[in-house]
Amino acid sequence: MRKIGVGIIGCGTIADVYLTNLTQHFEHVEVVAVADLFEEKARQAAEKYGIGKSGSVDGLLADPAVEIVLNLTIPAAHYSVNKQILEAGKHAYCEKPLALKYEEAEELAALASEKGLMCVSAPDTFLGAGIQQAKALLDSGRIGKPIGFTANMTCAGHELWHPNPGFYYKNGGGPMFDMGPYYLTALSYLLGPIRRISCFTASGRPVRNILGTDTPSEVPTTYTAIMEFVCGAVGTVTMSFDTWDTSLPLLEIYGTEGSLYAPDPDSFNGPVSIYDGSKLKGIVDAVTEPHPAKIIAMVTNQGNCKETPDMLFPENPEHRANMRGLGVADMSRALIDGRPARLSTDLSLHVVEALNAFEISAKSGAAYEMKSSCSPTEPMGRDWALWEIR
Ligand SMILES: NC(=O)c1ccc[n+]([C@@H]2O[C@H](COP(=O)([O-])OP(=O)(O)OC[C@H]3O[C@@H](n4cnc5c(N)ncnc54)[C@H](O)[C@@H]3O)[C@@H](O)[C@H]2O)c1
Repeated sequence: MRKIGVGIIGCGTIADVYLTNLTQHFEHVEVVAVADLFEEKARQAAEKYGIGKSGSVDGLLADPAVEIVLNLTIPAAHYSVNKQILEAGKHAYCEKPLALKYEEAEELAALASEKGLMCVSAPDTFLGAGIQQAKALLDSGRIGKPIGFTANMTCAGHELWHPNPGFYYKNGGGPMFDMGPYYLTALSYLLGPIRRISCFTASGRPVRNILGTDTPSEVPTTYTAIMEFVCGAVGTVTMSFDTWDTSLPLLEIYGTEGSLYAPDPDSFNGPVSIYDGSKLKGIVDAVTEPHPAKIIAMVTNQGNCKETPDMLFPENPEHRANMRGLGVADMSRALIDGRPARLSTDLSLHVVEALNAFEISAKSGAAYEMKSSCSPTEPMGRDWALWEIR
């Protein structure tokens, strides 16, 4: 099979998992070059992962062996690096977000379209078995028409673990720009395009301890929003770096016939279950006269209707692994097979607009009406799983 040459710009924290996966798991992908602002970091990564070439960004972009460039720089550099990649005639696959501003993302999408290139951004976690399973269940009508949802990412802040966490509290950081993409990509993939967003923000700890220095955050650290999707579903989203503990679900979707408990959109798999509402609905529909005690007894007797449906992907420890790079592998395979990549420019652009919409709505106090749209691809079937590609 033809191999697609991938070049990586940005050899920091997240580069390790991409390099591990892309050099080991996909026989149609070959990482041919790495680059970083600090060329020594690229040299070290090349040595560790056995990559033939390392050096400057300009050198990597001029390399004819590179077809796809994986942009793993910090968010503030995404737009300019993505633009350089497209201008060099290469496909761009960027860590999230595609760009900080919607106008910048629109410009990138237009440039990509003009040049016949792909320009997309992570996350690719929605290509994992968990969200794929959820999508297959939703599309098969297992919970009926989606009516509501809740999506929540609440933690105490990334300075707890990241070796260089300053960028999380600068413009383009914060819980919405950093973690929102996982939840918004999963929601847009599962429910389709967003219609409007109304958001409120708060800052629990506006001054953060960044590597021993008190640093004021440039962005709010808690966002709560109400979202309406074009399909009619409405729900709440909370992204917070101010929360010490919580019992909120990560992602649940409520339909006319039941509820769907989805796995963490920031991971590639996890339990997916369904609450079948049909028995309860039967009881509710059968009520002919007020008789609360009888109804309560009947409802209680239903026990737990939560069930784990047949898994689309058979249980496999690899499905739980951090498989970052799956989107790059799919994009490579799309180039070979002459089909669109599952992670589309439309979806990445829609998510950037939504990220900005939370900020705009919180500042203006008004709901933001989305301009862009996206068309989610079909879930992968049992017969086709990127996991199996070696
Ligand atoms: N760290 C994580 O666990 C994690 C998880 C998921 C996604 N991400 C995303 O990955 C991206 C990178 O995060 P990170 O944690 O690896 O950051 P990092 O600061 O550890 O690494 C970024 C690297 O990019 C290089 N760089 C910055 N600007 C550059 C430019 N203009 N040209 C070339 N190189 C440049 C830096 O020198 C550095 O080596 C971010 O978009 C982040 O949101 C990170």
